[in-house]
Amino acid sequence: MTNLEFIYKRKSIRKFKDQEVPKEDLIEMLKAATYAPSAKHQQNWHFDVITNKEKIEEIAKVVGDRHMEIANLADNEKDQANMSKFLKYYTVFKNAPVLVLVYAKPYKTVEYKILKDKPECKELYNMATSSQAEIQTIGAAVENLLLAAANMGYGACYMTGPVHSRDKIYEVMGHDETKGELMALIPVGVPEDSSAPQPPRLPLEDVVTFID
Ligand SMILES: Cc1cc2nc3c(=O)[nH]c(=O)nc-3n(C[C@H](O)[C@H](O)[C@H](O)COP(=O)(O)O)c2cc1C
Repeated sequence: MTNLEFIYKRKSIRKFKDQEVPKEDLIEMLKAATYAPSAKHQQNWHFDVITNKEKIEEIAKVVGDRHMEIANLADNEKDQANMSKFLKYYTVFKNAPVLVLVYAKPYKTVEYKILKDKPECKELYNMATSSQAEIQTIGAAVENLLLAAANMGYGACYMTGPVHSRDKIYEVMGHDETKGELMALIPVGVPEDSSAPQPPRLPLEDVVTFID
């Protein structure tokens, strides 16, 4: 039996010890990320690795502010309360020693080029681009990073919620367009001793169809 324990033991970690992560360990995780498959091997990712506490706190502040700005736009109290309740899940990185920002660069492929400027092919273009290969590529890289981190004894969390503050995060970071667009954030650190249990999975028969 193949040992897949390193996959089954990974879970999202949202609380971290106040302990630095050595740079060589970060490099190993990032290297693992880049060994992910990428559409047409375009490797259209970029990673900013932030270890500066003030920068991480600044990002958490703009994300928190934007979150409440959205909550206050709600048409009713229920939606407002619901949005506010989730604030902590959008700022879990605020006490992490490391925050990785993951960017996606555009994915270029010949079918897009052929179809792009032909109004009569709009439906075909939409279908061809709907797989969002550049985003799927980022997902593969993030999962590699998460698995590497878990296997090395660190905790991490895949986060897209804070992307609702992309413009503000760019203001904090100073945006370099050549890195692509911010798609995900990953706090990394030594997990707190009391971390939430891994949530149960749907039974395989609910999500898998074997076609013989
Ligand atoms: C695309 C994606 C986005 C996510 N965004 C967030 C997020 O913004 N905040 C958060 O706390 N968790 C986020 N998560 C983590 C999920 O909540 C978590 O993976 C799920 O509850 C399963 O738990 P596990 O990772 O411990 O197995 C995200 C996960 C994925 C795959």
